[in-house]
Amino acid sequence: MNNLIFATNNQNKVEEVRAVLGSRFNVITLKEAGIDIDIPEPHDTLQANATEKSKTIFEITKQNCFSEDTGLEVEALNGGPGVKSARYAGNARSFDDNIDKLLGKLQPFENKTARFRTVISLLLDEKEYFFEGICEGRIIAERKGVNGFGYDPVFVPTGSDKTFAEMDMAEKNKFSHRKKAMEKLINFLNGKN
Ligand code: IMP
Repeated sequence: MNNLIFATNNQNKVEEVRAVLGSRFNVITLKEAGIDIDIPEPHDTLQANATEKSKTIFEITKQNCFSEDTGLEVEALNGGPGVKSARYAGNARSFDDNIDKLLGKLQPFENKTARFRTVISLLLDEKEYFFEGICEGRIIAERKGVNGFGYDPVFVPTGSDKTFAEMDMAEKNKFSHRKKAMEKLINFLNGKN
């Protein structure tokens, strides 16, 4: 019950999730589980992609596991890049190219409101449960900070004047979409114990 495989190859996400879970649950990465695959994300909703990832890993391991899919939803871009956030500027999945494309598209708009949304799919004893976390904020015109990953250098969460990339992990986790979704997952798991 306390061992959970986290179906991701993103080491930043693993560190963030471990910081939230502490020692209560043993998060096993795909690498540690000896799984070396690029998990597909072919769907047009975060929920469907999260399900695809956790089901793929369950098929291989037959163990309890969870996955998450996150998108940056920008109001002026009608919720985009959303589920396409990782490959916004192409299949190379370059964080820098994605940010450049985002800033270019947003440039004509006054409204810079954006949010991160995370959906977690947990497969526990072969049943699936979903948890969502949202972080509201805005996009700034120039990169600030070097920490984190993805769109962190241009995202300022509501309640702060720093970008995620100017925060250490503990500070990011005060605001983070992923942290909020993980807290719901933890509360659920604690209720099961
Ligand atoms: P994924 O498909 O869930 O891995 O995430 C999609 C993309 O969203 C990633 O490639 C990142 O560019 C971006 N992303 C997800 N979470 C974060 C975050 O916490 N900060 C900044 N960007 C993120």
